[in-house]
Amino acid sequence: FEWLDGRPSKQRLLVVANRLPVSAIRKGEDSWQLEVSVGGLVTALLGVKEFEARWIGWAGVNVPDEIGQRALTKALAEKRCIPVFLDEEIVHQYYNGYCNNILWPLFHYLGLPQEDRLATTRSFQSQFDAYKKANQMFADVVNEHYEEGDVVWCHDYHLMFLPKCLKEYNSKMKVGWFLHTPFPSSEIHRTLPSRSDLLRSVLCADLVGFHTYDYARHFVSACTRILGLEGTPEGVEDQGRLTRVAAFPIGIDSDRFIRALEVPQVQEHIKELTERFAGRKVMLGVDRLDMIKGIPQKILAFEKFLEENPSWRDKVVLLQIAVPTRTDVPEYQKLTSQVHEIVGRINGRFGTLTAVPIHHLDRSLDFHALCALYAVTDVALVTSLRDGMNLVSYEFVACQDSKKGVLILSEFAGAAQSLGAGAILVNPWNITEVASSIGQALNMLPEEREKRHRHNFVHVTTHTAQEWAETFVSELNDTVVEAQLRTTQ
Ligand code: ADP
Ligand code: F6P
Repeated sequence: FEWLDGRPSKQRLLVVANRLPVSAIRKGEDSWQLEVSVGGLVTALLGVKEFEARWIGWAGVNVPDEIGQRALTKALAEKRCIPVFLDEEIVHQYYNGYCNNILWPLFHYLGLPQEDRLATTRSFQSQFDAYKKANQMFADVVNEHYEEGDVVWCHDYHLMFLPKCLKEYNSKMKVGWFLHTPFPSSEIHRTLPSRSDLLRSVLCADLVGFHTYDYARHFVSACTRILGLEGTPEGVEDQGRLTRVAAFPIGIDSDRFIRALEVPQVQEHIKELTERFAGRKVMLGVDRLDMIKGIPQKILAFEKFLEENPSWRDKVVLLQIAVPTRTDVPEYQKLTSQVHEIVGRINGRFGTLTAVPIHHLDRSLDFHALCALYAVTDVALVTSLRDGMNLVSYEFVACQDSKKGVLILSEFAGAAQSLGAGAILVNPWNITEVASSIGQALNMLPEEREKRHRHNFVHVTTHTAQEWAETFVSELNDTVVEAQLRTTQ
């Protein structure tokens, strides 16, 4: 990953995100192994190269002792990463609790977890206190490493309290905040007991960014309706101070995927997969095993397709690669068992002694294996119930320039706004509709596939992660200059 290797600087950038791009595994008292973390934020930011960047975040592991902390800090420094050490209790309350059990489902319109809704409501205040405390710990580390002129770019729903903490340290710090999830309708946001505190803190940033115009609009509405502030075409105004709010749709480092397809190891892998699935069309799902990804709904739609189309039963296979994520949160544990149960039932129902219709893997694939899989796929199925953007759909398109496969894409993913014209858009809650889209995709004529693919390929290769980051940072610089001009006038 070039991002982590260092390069000549244009501008110093401090990227602050809950998760570092590498996760640490302890190998001994003072030795650590680093592995690339999985997730959209990491994928996008690793594609950003034109800054002298440092990444501040949590290494995904509890390190209670000083020897371990010192050794890990040193190992991470080689990757231009700076750790924030969070103890087990904070991780439990802040990350598992407030971030993943409250904000995450709410921002994706899924409501609080059904079974323990009352318990969640009761623990709300202590979890929010832990959230604020964790955000303050991130701010302390940023402040320690900050140099005048740095751009501080805060990411995601884990760090909504950070802009406020940073500006309290230094009101002149250039602070941007970007959300990688949807921002929900203000009617959803207003159910949060901490609704105003979160909004007020985010408004301390100079520039606030979202993947789509709709999310930005929801945020501005929340500020006007909940805080009574004024929304303008530029953003939100509070007593003469403007916070710029805008849409900055993210992308991927498409060249990296396209180049990977030329690597001999990937070509070999493509050959193996093509032989392995000869005579069958390959359908693919690649997701974190997350409640928002609509994995059970996707599998049920595939079952319906097989049920209604007996002639396809031994001619199509669904490969679902689902890397486990947030495994300490009960809702995620339930999802894993649910998916296993459904896959087992369908394979029992439609499998033969020599083949099963669904291959489900609970793991992450390395980059080259993933590119090979994308390249051999005939139909990709992205059925998120809600998704900030969804970069898997972009990665699939980048790897499909020879095959020109079809993308079935949820209308509730941010990517529907950019890849909608090339994809078959579906409502993932409507299993009948998804099943019939599978038929449409499998039967699509080559000219139609070519036309749809071309549209998406041009988008994915021109709206890259690099362009996204440059636009955001340059807009942040301009916003700060404009604000200074306004105050001196
Ligand atoms: P999210 O931000 O919710 O994680 P995205 O679709 O935007 O969703 O990004 C997911 C990223 O994680 C992509 O870069 C994808 O390649 C990677 N990823 C997801 N599942 C797997 C997996 N099973 N193996 C390897 N990488 C994965
Ligand atoms: O896109 C949302 C997000 O929370 C990102 O911040 C992150 O890349 C991804 O999901 C993975 O989540 P986690 O860091 O909780 O494993």
